[in-house]
This record gives sequence, structure tokens and C-alpha cells, in this order.
Amino acid sequence: MAPRWTCLVCLLIFLVISCEAGRDFYKILGVPKDASVHQIKKSYRRLAKEYHPDKNQDDPLAEDKFKDLGAAYEVLVDQEKRQKYDRCGEECVAKEEGFGGMDPFASFFGDFGFGFGGGGGGRERETAKGGDVTMDMHVTLEELYVGNFVEMVRNKPVMRAASGTRRCNCRQEMVTRQLGPGRFQMTQQQVCDECPNVKLVNEERTLEFEIEPGMVDEQEHRFVGEGEPHIDGDPGDLIIRIKTQPHSRFERRGDDLYTNVTLSLQEALLGFELDVPHLDTHKVHVVREKPTWPGARIRKKGEGMPNYENNNLFGTLYITFDVEFPKTEFTAEDREGTGRITSFTIRRDCEKEVQIPAPVGHCA
Ligand SMILES: *[C@@H]1O[C@H](CO)[C@@H](O)[C@H](O)[C@H]1NC(C)=O
Repeated sequence: MAPRWTCLVCLLIFLVISCEAGRDFYKILGVPKDASVHQIKKSYRRLAKEYHPDKNQDDPLAEDKFKDLGAAYEVLVDQEKRQKYDRCGEECVAKEEGFGGMDPFASFFGDFGFGFGGGGGGRERETAKGGDVTMDMHVTLEELYVGNFVEMVRNKPVMRAASGTRRCNCRQEMVTRQLGPGRFQMTQQQVCDECPNVKLVNEERTLEFEIEPGMVDEQEHRFVGEGEPHIDGDPGDLIIRIKTQPHSRFERRGDDLYTNVTLSLQEALLGFELDVPHLDTHKVHVVREKPTWPGARIRKKGEGMPNYENNNLFGTLYITFDVEFPKTEFTAEDREGTGRITSFTIRRDCEKEVQIPAPVGHCA
């Protein structure tokens, strides 16, 4: 009897869980349960671009998918809501907070999306457009290696309906006036239409800029319609321009990285084993058993920067060695050591000792 009961209980529990759980936000966003905020933002941005209804007009389900995505993002990106969701599912969050307070799509792509649909015909070019705004975004090499999101909060003038009308679409036209019999005068005159009145209201808006892995210096990203507004036309664009801050240890050329490592004389002569910490703190292991000349350079394929177009491809890391010669005079012990060079101790991090017949003793 017991096994059957267990089964029934299992089934009940399963039913209860699946009813209460609502939508699986993690699955919708395609991220693991322990996903970082970065992963969530990245995944949302990628999927929202893919599922946007404007891009999927033949797919009747696109709109629902897109809405699910927005709801999933709204909950998982907010630490408090996410905790509630993890505890007792969508119901809990929905009851207490209410959904739809934000438009995540607009924060990643601006109010005008990516400007698709407006295919740029000849007539559209006549529409007046506000000025473009270019902003430098100072980023570190670390950010360009692993990627990051930068939240930009700004006051954006947004057009809102106002009472009354205003003059709009003003243009110059020729008007002919009769001055007397057989006498006419042509003058230029400004002619305007009457349009519903609008006013510009400052609203606080958040834009999420993704520093994508492999972006290059001076690369520009355009937020369509997020520039200066134009009362009679479309707003201009906001252009974010990447400016890489100099790095203390790495130099970048294309997708390749260059770094310098200083060896002690002993290491240069006898060989060495060391770890170069990379931009994401992973270690690049270097072993050499031969003597190393000052200025010697080794290559580590795949340890450069990620390629912007294909993040699975990496450039090369070039490590150039410098050798530090002793600054002080040799002591008698040192001299003895140099005489029997194979008895030197190589200690890089004071843990790994390679040869220890005659300790030099600077690590104790
Ligand atoms: C490495 O050393 C060379 C020569 O001193 C210098 O020009 C270069 O800027 C250094 N590179 C880095 C990444 O420090």
C-alpha cells in the first residue's frame, strides 16, 4: 500500500507546484536559476530583439512571447521581486506589486526601438529631425573583455499633448496682391498650419547600454530617437561612443593583447613557471625551461580579446619579457651561487620551489 500512497502524494505535490508556479521566468529568459543580473540583462536584450512583434509579423505568438519576456525580465532583474518569485512563484509577485510598471524594451532600445519599419523613403527625409547627441562612454579593458551593462538615467524631454493649437509646418509662399487696376505685387509670406498643441515635459528615463565583449575604441552605438527632440518632427539620435581607458598591464591592438613581464636574472637563465592574471582574473600559465633573453616575446593563441562579431574567437596574447639585473653588488654567497648556477632557487610566489639545493632566502 505504501508505495501507492507515496505516488499519490507525489502527484498532488506536483499538481500544486505546477498550478502555483505560473510561468517559468528562468526558462522564458533562457537563464539558469542562479543567473547574475548581467546574464539576465544580456539574455533579455538578445531575446527581445529577436521576438519583437514588429520583426515577427507572421508569427501570431510573437506578441505573447514578447510580453512573457518583459514580465520575466521585470521580475528577475529586481532583487526583491526575484526573491519573492523564487519563494512562491509568479502569483506572489503579481499580487503584491502589480506588473507592467516599466518598459524594459525602451530602456534597452529607446522609445523608437531600433527604428525598423521606417525604411527611409524619399518622403520621410523631409521630416524635420532634432539634433543627434554624441556621448563618450569611458570603459575599461576588463569591461570590453567580459562585457557589462551601464545604466544611464537622464531627464528626457518628452512630447505631451497640451490644450489649444499651435502654428506648425510653416513655409514660405508667394502671395499676389492687387494694388490697383493692372498693378500687382508679389510678396513672400509665411504660411502655417494649425496643429494640436504639444509641450515638452521632462521625464526621467533609464537607458541600458550594453558594453558588448570585443567592442573597439571609437565604436558607436545608436539609440534611435533618444537625441534632441524636434517639435515639428522626429527626435535625433543618441550616439554612445566607446573610449577605452588605458590599462596598467595590457595594451590592445585589434583583437590582440600585449603585456610585459619582468623576470629575475635567475628565472631568465634557468627557466620559470608563472601565471599572468588575465582581464577576467583567469590565469594564463607560462612555463619555460630555456634561457630567456630580455625582449623575448612569446605568443598565447586565444588569450587576446574576444572578437566583436564572434565572441567565441579570441585574438592572441603577446608576452614580452624584461630581465631585471641585480641592482646591488653580489655578495659572496651570490657569487658562489652564480658559480654553481644550477643550484639557484626559483621562487615565483614562494610556494612553488623548483630547485632548492642552495636557498637564496628572500621568501622567508
Ligand atoms: C611594455 O614595455 C614597452 C617597452 O618598455 C612599452 O613601450 C610598452 O608600453 C609596455 N607595454 C605595457 C602593456 O605595459
